[in-house]
Amino acid sequence: MKTYIFFVSIRLVKYKKETKLRVLQIQDIKSLIEKIGHEKFTKELVKTLEEDYFKWETFDKTPRVANHVNGGVIELMPISDEVLYTFKYVNGHPKNPEQNKFTIMATGQLSKVSTGEPLMFCEMTLLTAFRTAANSVMAAKYLAKKDSQVLSLIGAGAQSEFQFLAFLYYFDLKEVRFYDVDIDAMNKFEKNMKKFNIKLTPCKNVEEAIQDADIITTCTADKSYQTILKKDMIKNDVYINAIGGDCPGKTELEKELVENSVVVCEFLEQCKIEGEIQQLAKDYVCTELYEIVRGEKTINVQTHGSVIFDSVGFAIEDYSVLRLVYELAKKYNIGTNMNLVPQIEDVKDLYSLL
Ligand SMILES: NC(=O)c1ccc[n+]([C@@H]2O[C@H](COP(=O)([O-])OP(=O)(O)OC[C@H]3O[C@@H](n4cnc5c(N)ncnc54)[C@H](O)[C@@H]3O)[C@@H](O)[C@H]2O)c1
Repeated sequence: MKTYIFFVSIRLVKYKKETKLRVLQIQDIKSLIEKIGHEKFTKELVKTLEEDYFKWETFDKTPRVANHVNGGVIELMPISDEVLYTFKYVNGHPKNPEQNKFTIMATGQLSKVSTGEPLMFCEMTLLTAFRTAANSVMAAKYLAKKDSQVLSLIGAGAQSEFQFLAFLYYFDLKEVRFYDVDIDAMNKFEKNMKKFNIKLTPCKNVEEAIQDADIITTCTADKSYQTILKKDMIKNDVYINAIGGDCPGKTELEKELVENSVVVCEFLEQCKIEGEIQQLAKDYVCTELYEIVRGEKTINVQTHGSVIFDSVGFAIEDYSVLRLVYELAKKYNIGTNMNLVPQIEDVKDLYSLL
């Protein structure tokens, strides 16, 4: 307990003097990744996620606030611990690509808890892809077979390359089998990833794509109860990283498959509303990821058969990426200080600004 209070005090002191609001745009994130490298950034993020999941009970957690709108959803994802508060604004509009707009777009903020001052405002469309892929592979380190060699990707949209690369950094992959209903998306994935020395196998359907797979990532976008994977299609024990079912009425796995597999989720309270397990009974309970990270429970495909990581994306993942990016932005002097919070002599005299 004493050590814990000591570390909280150190962190509080660390942020005490910081008052400027740093704004990070797309080009800032791009130059950060260029400086650090995609692999190193992903690995640092996995480490940061593990640190934060490890201190799960210190976070003030809530399921995200979702406004369901025609054709999509707009969500706010807040979370805080004793030192930092973050939130992400994110949408999910699966038909947006028809207008050449992203399905997912996001921005985020990091603030100091002691005074509420915003410290950073940041693009998060790219960062969401990074943090989702890092979270997927962090879970896979515990849940998938260590010697996994074949990755299957269903859905070759915006998230797909980030997913593939994160798995490539942690597993000795020999082959990636991929399928998307959109042939252009498949061609784009192949073009982007062909420089990596891995066998890329485009497939004609899901059945072909999941042949001999050790790990399956489903990252499709469609606001409906899809059955991309059905129980009868799964022939070998496999790790299923299901990230595309993340909203009420938006799932990717057949109910029978979910019922008959071991399931791990991020935050049960949120996942029961948004995840694959929304299809199961209201009192359904499964393991949460923090229990795995802390070693309180051990689950692996080798010992438990097929395991589903029912990922919907939880605010702690945005907290981790924002806190990491903030530290790196300071270190490399990236971003722009912006005057979005008034700085005046007499704070009671707000009127003097006009
Ligand atoms: N769990 C998380 O933390 C998290 C984070 C980010 C995104 N997501 C979800 O991941 C999904 C993918 O996001 P994105 O940004 O890559 O979206 P995207 O629109 O760029 O790509 C989705 C792809 O899925 C394909 N698709 C749709 N139905 C399909 C089907 N039946 N079979 C094969 N392919 C199909 C589309 O053609 C498209 O290329 C979305 O549903 C999004 O909400 C989850």
